[in-house]
Amino acid sequence: MSATPIAAIAGLGCAVPARVVTNADFEKFLETSDQWIVERTGIRERRIAGPEESLSGLCKEASICAMQRAGVSALDLDAIVLGTISPDRRLPAMACDLQALLGARNAIAFDIAAACPGWLYSLAIAEGLIASGRAKTVLTLGAEKLSSVTDWTDRSTAVLFGDGAGAAVVRPAGPDGRGILSLVLGADGELAELLYIPAGGSCEPVSEKVVRERTHYIRMAGREVFKKAVLAMAKACDDALARAGVEAADIDLLVPHQANLRIIEATAKHAGVPMSKVMVNVDRYGNTSAASIPIAIDQALTEGRIRPGSLLMFVTFGAGFTWGSAVVRW
Ligand code: ACO
Repeated sequence: MSATPIAAIAGLGCAVPARVVTNADFEKFLETSDQWIVERTGIRERRIAGPEESLSGLCKEASICAMQRAGVSALDLDAIVLGTISPDRRLPAMACDLQALLGARNAIAFDIAAACPGWLYSLAIAEGLIASGRAKTVLTLGAEKLSSVTDWTDRSTAVLFGDGAGAAVVRPAGPDGRGILSLVLGADGELAELLYIPAGGSCEPVSEKVVRERTHYIRMAGREVFKKAVLAMAKACDDALARAGVEAADIDLLVPHQANLRIIEATAKHAGVPMSKVMVNVDRYGNTSAASIPIAIDQALTEGRIRPGSLLMFVTFGAGFTWGSAVVRW
């Protein structure tokens, strides 16, 4: 028998910057090629925010869409939980800026830093706030402007990332069985330095030396991250299915973190879900980290691949290392 949900996604929206940067654009200033990027990652283009596009602005756009679809107003929000590692500024939490932008005066607001699984971590916090009776309507977000922490001279990372925001309103589940059936999270801080930003924190604040050595940008041991991602996402799928009490064959759509097509294919193969039931848009948006899954869900909704009652599985992995998975009856 499948699990009984406590909370459900009542509405979801996303926003991406207007500017499209193609692989050919990178060929102009990096020693790389469209062929290399497509073969190794599946990415063809990504959205990169211009100076006039703030991440909180993208969050506002995504949130308004999610709230409209959920039929709630900003004053209904009890909490805003925002997963990001690239906020507009370090203080205050960007969730507070968003609270002001939305006029969500009744909401508590805070950011969480869980890298790519940031939205799934937010979803888990929302579920907990609802289960404890502390909140009824929670706005969860995954949003990144990774272009601001990417070294544009490093071909091994610059081509991978994109900017964007996704938002979802979470409310108590109704009696119809729709909602979050399982949500599994994990972390392994022993592996932190395989994917990290060495400086710019309180250990080594930004200085002339930091800027000169470019240590305020993302550093990644790509091949190691790749191997760990495949293993962690495979186990996370197994755990989410088991806890939800459903089989892989029951899944209507797998929505994995959009980091690399090869990781997505390996994850789907392990989970036993055919690629025809896997949402892929890494070709258009690259790795938007915490925004990746909600952006993919939004596109799947637009394409009619998700309907009321569809059984979905989300799975993600990122810096920390952190990972997460969920089975959701839409
Ligand atoms: N263009 C051309 N050549 C390149 C590029 C590029 N953009 N980037 C690297 N190369 C070269 C390397 O220099 C290397 O050359 P060498 O053999 O002469 O040394 C060669 O290509 C192979 O490099 P690898 O890193 O071994 O290539 P790999 O097949 O592993 O692909 C990639 C690299 C795409 C980064 C892959 O490892 C990957 O996707 N890793 C996972 C990244 C990820 O999923 N991160 C998720 C978390 S992100 C987050 O949390 C924010």
